[in-house]
Amino acid sequence: MTDTYEASVKRSLAIEQDLKINPQNYRVLTGERPTGRLHLGHLFGSLQARVRFQQQGVPTAIVIADYQVITDRDTLDDVQNNVYGIVADNLAAGLDPEKTMLFCHSQVPELNQLLLPFLALVSEAELRRNPTVKAETEAAGRTLSGLMLTYPVHQAADILFCKGNLVPVGKDQLPHLEIARVVARRFNERFGGVDYGQSADGRPRNFAQAVFPEPDALLSKAAHVPGLDGRKMSKSFGNAVYLGMTADETAALIKKSPTDAERQIAFDPENRPGVSALLTTTALCRGLEANGESEAQIAAEINADPKFGAGLLKKKATEAINEFLAPHRARRAEIERDADAIKAILRRGNARAREVAAQTLGEVQRAMGTVY
Ligand code: TRP
Repeated sequence: MTDTYEASVKRSLAIEQDLKINPQNYRVLTGERPTGRLHLGHLFGSLQARVRFQQQGVPTAIVIADYQVITDRDTLDDVQNNVYGIVADNLAAGLDPEKTMLFCHSQVPELNQLLLPFLALVSEAELRRNPTVKAETEAAGRTLSGLMLTYPVHQAADILFCKGNLVPVGKDQLPHLEIARVVARRFNERFGGVDYGQSADGRPRNFAQAVFPEPDALLSKAAHVPGLDGRKMSKSFGNAVYLGMTADETAALIKKSPTDAERQIAFDPENRPGVSALLTTTALCRGLEANGESEAQIAAEINADPKFGAGLLKKKATEAINEFLAPHRARRAEIERDADAIKAILRRGNARAREVAAQTLGEVQRAMGTVY
């Protein structure tokens, strides 16, 4: 049943095309864990795509997955600030909360209740072999908690409560999406009377009774933004350009970022990770494709200058990043000036999510016969 990666890529490309023609056939669900502030990687990797969905008229919901914060850490330190910051950055990137539903899953009891029947549909063995859960448990260096083991099922509830059928994801989220597909299919079979086995094309014969769609992955083609030192952009490495930083803070961070002693600038990610990361980031912020060529061009531009070297590279990177982020930062500052408005937007998103979730939970209970 498990799709190969190649099959997922192929299907994702086909959906990408169909999305332009039939946006109304899709319901996108995407989101993130509020473990910190959003950075340049988030803007290129997911926020820009969300704005594109909105412009294309694809109904889209964004979950801020606060319960997922305690999968690999003990506390929800700073979660409130992180959540408000995420809302501010989504709005600053261009999301219209009236068009795109933005909510916190902890505030939607009906969503969380779906977890109970969903847990009945998966086996312990299936949960234990999820490679992403294994990797995250190892990275956290702690014993596997019940929530860590089952959070992919909870994530299925994030997706299915609003009948999301398209989830923009990176490769690491594919195992979770497979669980969401399994949960949807098994629920439909077991409680909806849907028979997937008997039609020639594999579609359920009595599809009308299916409560849940089987969500597809939309694999990201977005540019990968390296951290300033060439490693993954991450809070723990101190190599992330946050969207909410000031221009001066950005300049100071880049000043500290590691380069090397070679004066000639060249794009060579393996041997010169710091220099190469700055070249890639400069290219992306100048609106170029990070294809190696753009980076080489910027390197040539620097080498042609009498003041060539890492200092000039950093100057150009700082200019490109700050110039690119200036409009986002201006909008963000404006939005943050009204903390009550941010809270009101989130509350309204939560309330709308509850309406949708209550509707779905009603269908689930009718399908299961738990109606009294
Ligand atoms: N697990 C995702 C991440 O770490 C965040 C997430 C939570 C999510 N619920 C989701 C993503 C539902 C897509 C759909 O990035």
